[in-house]
Amino acid sequence: MKKFKIVTTMIVFSLLFVLSACGTSTTSGSGEKKTLRIVTDATYAPFEYQDKGEVVGFDVDFVKAVAKEAGYDVKVEHVGWDPLFVEIKGKTADAAISSITITDDRKQTYDFTIPYFLSKNEIMVPKKSDIKNAQDLKGKVIAVQNGTTGQDAVEALIGKNNNKLKKFESNNLAILELKGGGADAVVSDNTVIETYIKNNPKDNFKFIEDDTTFQKEFYGILLPKGSKLKADFDKAIKKVVENGTYEKIYKKWLNTKLDLKTLKEHQ
Ligand code: ARG
Repeated sequence: MKKFKIVTTMIVFSLLFVLSACGTSTTSGSGEKKTLRIVTDATYAPFEYQDKGEVVGFDVDFVKAVAKEAGYDVKVEHVGWDPLFVEIKGKTADAAISSITITDDRKQTYDFTIPYFLSKNEIMVPKKSDIKNAQDLKGKVIAVQNGTTGQDAVEALIGKNNNKLKKFESNNLAILELKGGGADAVVSDNTVIETYIKNNPKDNFKFIEDDTTFQKEFYGILLPKGSKLKADFDKAIKKVVENGTYEKIYKKWLNTKLDLKTLKEHQ
């Protein structure tokens, strides 16, 4: 009888052990983490671009750190700008990171994590250009990446469906248009423009800030509406900002001053 009791107890305990291991499979150290499929438009250095066939950049390191904190592995895949929204809407990917500005319009269709990066639009022109501010863009040919807040900002200035606005599938194509003389200016995110100018001095471009026209923007990780990842990711983002990991990644990819105060105020 005693022996029977011991055996039963052992069975019960091993069952409990197996069950508890199952329940925590995403966070346990068993190496059985779930791998999330994260999509991006890797044509936006220094946030996401391709280097020897690999997707790299600030966003890639950041989302890896956040996912690790939340107990997941990630695979970041380049799919392009318009396709990434299609994937998140159709829930064929778990999340997208691509310097995506949190906007009220996008919030109708998608969920976002709390903000992780402070940005604003900016103008890029040839050094010899007579454009000095956003108002000067009126009457000029402007190139933007289709479906970006850069497009929204220009449309707010010159109106929708203005044929002086040229829209491209990627920001790099918009820059090529400027380079080839097919446009007078490009409008896109400040960090991306300033990185391009620094890396391509021979193009002889300069950047123009205009804080009266271009508002503060915040990037968030894009999620399907109702995604269960939001709570985990938000918590993990706060942790990564608190514990210094964010600053380390920032310093690796960017040489501008980090304004953690403004970011934290909006988190
Ligand atoms: N921040 C801008 C937006 O959300 C542009 C982002 C473009 N990102 C990219 N990887 N091409 O509209």
